[in-house]
Amino acid sequence: RKRIVSGVQPTGAIHLGNYLGAIKNWIALQNSYDTLFFIVDLHAITLPYDTQQLSKASRNTAAIYLACGVDTSKASVFVQSHVRAHVELMWLLSCSTPIGWLNRMIQFKEKSRKAGDENVGVALLTYPVLMASDILLYQSDFVPVGEDQKQHLELTRELAERVNYLYGGRKWKKLGGRGGPIFKVPEPLIPPAGARVMSLTDGLSKMSKSAPSDQSRINLLDPKDVIANKIKRCKTDSFPGLEFDNPERPECNNLLSIYQIISSKTKEEVAQECQDMNWGTFKNLITDALVDHLHPIQVRYEEIISDPAYLDGVLAEGATKAAAIADATLENVYQAMGFLRR
Ligand code: TYM
Repeated sequence: RKRIVSGVQPTGAIHLGNYLGAIKNWIALQNSYDTLFFIVDLHAITLPYDTQQLSKASRNTAAIYLACGVDTSKASVFVQSHVRAHVELMWLLSCSTPIGWLNRMIQFKEKSRKAGDENVGVALLTYPVLMASDILLYQSDFVPVGEDQKQHLELTRELAERVNYLYGGRKWKKLGGRGGPIFKVPEPLIPPAGARVMSLTDGLSKMSKSAPSDQSRINLLDPKDVIANKIKRCKTDSFPGLEFDNPERPECNNLLSIYQIISSKTKEEVAQECQDMNWGTFKNLITDALVDHLHPIQVRYEEIISDPAYLDGVLAEGATKAAAIADATLENVYQAMGFLRR
């Protein structure tokens, strides 16, 4: 079976962007693929964070995965730092990563510009190498992510090819450059709709955990009245009717897209349903759809988070299964790179 891996950082509340761009698609894929979903706690410490909150955030994120429908009889769910091979492979990969490749990463440029050179840890730059290690350790075929991770995936692919070329030796050359004896070259899976969910307060910026205002995002665990309030206050416009794809109406396009996915309708159906609607009517419609969609997730979340023994069991089993695959790849890399093995 083809393999899929993906993960979310345990920083802040998980929002609709994380769900529609990534998690919701994982659920659809777990029946047809071998799947591993991790909580990327090591990625969550690249910017200043609260040590008191990290372990709790990792648990909460795991509980969200399960509440959204990740099925542990099919998928392995684990915490990145529980599988040591991630960090080990990262070092080995770092030695083959040109610094120019990392300097070009948009997320690095944005985040480091905000913080300033003296306040930016080296890990903010090397972050995509750890992400490549998360993916390449499992010989993954596909990585379901939102649009913002596309560049990191391209770097992962280039890095896999480079290591295959540098250390794959004669075996690699015989394969004529297809596939690789060390790493499989993975492909991103970016959904046709939901790949870039935008902020509720500005249709031109992405919905994000780090935006200062909570009004800009719908969190998966937001109660009904909070959702209603955020939608009530979200940015709209004064054009007549509602439509997709009008560049002058980014908020309208965003809200219609969200509504389309959570109501499982086609774009054409939604375009028709909403073309003559006013904002007031549509806001009620999307609020109800969001509340109906998120309610069962929230009920399951409460059940799961109140059973720590169950959650620990899931994460322990997930880490054991993941480590078996990861350790085999790591051993291969050490051998290919010429290390003395015990
Ligand atoms: P993170 O935690 O920022 O986001 C998790 C997932 O949510 C997607 N996403 C969005 N999708 C649509 N619209 C949005 N507004 C939006 N915001 C976030 C992201 O694209 C991502 O799929 N580096 C990654 C985590 C990571 C990872 C990996 C992912 C580390 N190792 C290996 C896949 C495979 C990140 O920071 O995601």
